[in-house]
Formats: sequence, C-alpha cells, structure tokens
Amino acid sequence: MATAPPIHLGVNIDHVATLRQARGTSYPDPVEAALQAAAAGADSITLHLREDRRHIQDADVQRLLQCCPVPVNLEMAVTAEMLDIACRLRPRFACLVPERREERTTEGGLDVAGQKREIAGACARLAQAGIVVSLFVDPDPAQLRAVLDCGAPHLEIHTGSYAEAPSGAAREAELAKIAGFARAALGAGIEVHAGHGLTLDNVAPVAAIAEVTELNIGHSIVARALFVGMSAAVNEMRRAMLEARR
Ligand code: PXP
Repeated sequence: MATAPPIHLGVNIDHVATLRQARGTSYPDPVEAALQAAAAGADSITLHLREDRRHIQDADVQRLLQCCPVPVNLEMAVTAEMLDIACRLRPRFACLVPERREERTTEGGLDVAGQKREIAGACARLAQAGIVVSLFVDPDPAQLRAVLDCGAPHLEIHTGSYAEAPSGAAREAELAKIAGFARAALGAGIEVHAGHGLTLDNVAPVAAIAEVTELNIGHSIVARALFVGMSAAVNEMRRAMLEARR
C-alpha cells in the first residue's frame, strides 16, 4: 500500500489577538504565540486580517512577517484594500476567504463559481506578487471547476459542516464529501488543504485523507494553550494528525 505524503499543520493565531482586543491591552501578543507555535513544530502560521480588524491588526502582520521562521499564510477577503496590503507585504501564502461583518467566524467557503471574474483577477494579481494563492471552498464540485478556472494552485476545504455535524451518519456523509472532493482536486493538479472547526476530537478522520496535505487549525489550539501552553497544544495536535496518517 502506498504511504500517504506528510501532513503539515498551519497554526492560526487570530484568537490570541481576540483576547488582547477584548481589553485593548498589548498582551497577549499573537506574534509571540506564533513564535512558540513554530518552535513547537507548526509548519506555517496563519492569520486573518479582517476588514473590521476585530482581532489581528495591520502591525501584527508586519511584525510577524519580519520574524516568523516558518511561512506565513495571510487569510483575506477579496477586496481592493486587502489585495493592496498583501501585494505590499508579500506573505508566502494567501488564502482568499468570504467575509461578512456580522459573522462570528468564517461561516462557509468562498463562492468562487459565483464571482469567478473577480476572484480570477485577485489570483492573478497575488501570483504576480509572488504569493501562492489558496481558495477556501466548500467541498462542492461546482467550486472545484471554478477554482481550476481561476488558476489557484492550492485550495482549502472548509470543514465546518463536518465539524458541526452530529457524530454518526451525518458526519460520515460530510467526511465522504470531503474525501471525494480532495481526490478530485488533487487529480486535477491542485494542492489540497483543509480547516475550520477541527479539534483534537475530530481531526483524525480528516488527517487520514491522504490527498489532504495541510490542516489549518486555530480556535481549538489557542483554547487548549490556555491550559497546557502553546507548545504542548501544538504538539498534541501534531501527534493526533501524524497518528491518523499512519
Ligand atoms: N482555515 C480558514 C480559511 C479559516 O477561515 C479558519 C478560521 O479563521 C481556519 C482555517 C481555522 O478555523 P478554526 O479557528 O475553527 O480552527
């Protein structure tokens, strides 16, 4: 049997900034969290500069890019402002996500099929700046065709429906959707990542999908770090992913 390629962990540090912004203090510092996560084995660091700046601030992105020892993945909405910022700061990766001000967190994948011209233009502009682009999409075949049309080299499967499904048949059905979509995407030449709502309890079945080579995980790792520290929280997640991969 062929062995699955390695799976990478991208740690999202947004919610360290959420805690800081709740009081308007200078602590806890999301950049310090990123450095600890990287030292503990995170393969990349993700942060989402939202239009409303509810957690990560522009200065956080600049500071992180100056000192992060692993690649930085900037999550961003497809807006002129964010495209200007990304092209100026040039993170290694950018992941385009939908954004609504009233949402608590990213609630679904990007409708690439419904905004193909705009997203294709954004992909081209980011690629020209040397940034590797990923599109965050639901595991829907229509979205895969649109991602291919936009020329993005990576996509990230939104795993929120899987994470929120009650265990049993409903969750298995969501997992089967993700696995089928990942197979089709990799078969079409796209690198496949996944994320959203993943925890120590639900990560294994997603990490076991051989076509998925990176998971981006934030909220559960930051929450766990409150009790065990960032290094232990990253290590636990990495171990759970690697064990599922065997
Ligand atoms: N991937 C993307 C594209 C996201 O928007 C988010 C949430 O910011 C995540 C991964 C991480 O989700 P969670 O914080 O639920 O682990």
